[in-house]
Amino acid sequence: MRILFIGDIVGSVGRKALKTCLPKLKVKYNPKWIVANGENAAAGRGITSAITKEIFELGVHGITMGNHTWDQKEIFDFIDKEERMVRPANFPQGTPGRGFTILKGKDSELAIVNLQGRTFLPPLDCPFDKALEIVEQVKKRTKFVLVDFHAEATSEKIAMGWHLDGKVSAVVGTHTHVQTNDERILPQGTAFVTDVGMVGPRDGILGMERTAVLQKFKTQLPVRFVVDEGKWHFHAVCIDLDPSTGLGQRIQLIRMDEDGVLLE
Ligand SMILES: [Fe+2]
Ligand SMILES: [Fe+2]
Repeated sequence: MRILFIGDIVGSVGRKALKTCLPKLKVKYNPKWIVANGENAAAGRGITSAITKEIFELGVHGITMGNHTWDQKEIFDFIDKEERMVRPANFPQGTPGRGFTILKGKDSELAIVNLQGRTFLPPLDCPFDKALEIVEQVKKRTKFVLVDFHAEATSEKIAMGWHLDGKVSAVVGTHTHVQTNDERILPQGTAFVTDVGMVGPRDGILGMERTAVLQKFKTQLPVRFVVDEGKWHFHAVCIDLDPSTGLGQRIQLIRMDEDGVLLE
């Protein structure tokens, strides 16, 4: 069973990249499931209902979120109803939306789980305990479980990979917008990568317009960041799961950019 997981989609450039790349990737990889992180899809901050619809219409089956989940006010109007979207499961109890969901296909199901790290990010419930709690619950239903761990520290993401090794199909990191080349199948069978990367402006800084970011670093004064324009790059991973065990067989990095460079 093949999953295509797409890194944080950033702004209109990211959505344009998705529209351009997804039809080609569908032909090339023929994934059963396509899951994307959408926390930056609306001008770099959060997601709207129109953009959610646009992403699903392109063929994405599930959307994961992160620390930018609440940046667009209108999310409160639809997140409870949208069963194909998950926000970090370790947000405080009573938070709108859901932390995991089961995507239903014609002849298969995939559980997607979203968790957020606590290192250099706001203090939340323990993502490690929450992960085990959810895994125990969803494993009663399906052996195919994908975890998007949205975290800043590479160490925290690697720790989550080891924590869940053999317990879930895959742990993929998001949030830092830079693809890491440490993709592997861990010893007990979980597919892992520290960070999938991003889909959006290539020549900014993590998707933001670079002069403002540089100014912030140089002056330490308040600066308003805006999403960059221009050419895109597209980062994803393709994961193959053993249909009998639900564990990872292969994980492959996908990295493309607007000038047609395709690295695999
Ligand atoms: Fe992000
Ligand atoms: Fe994030």
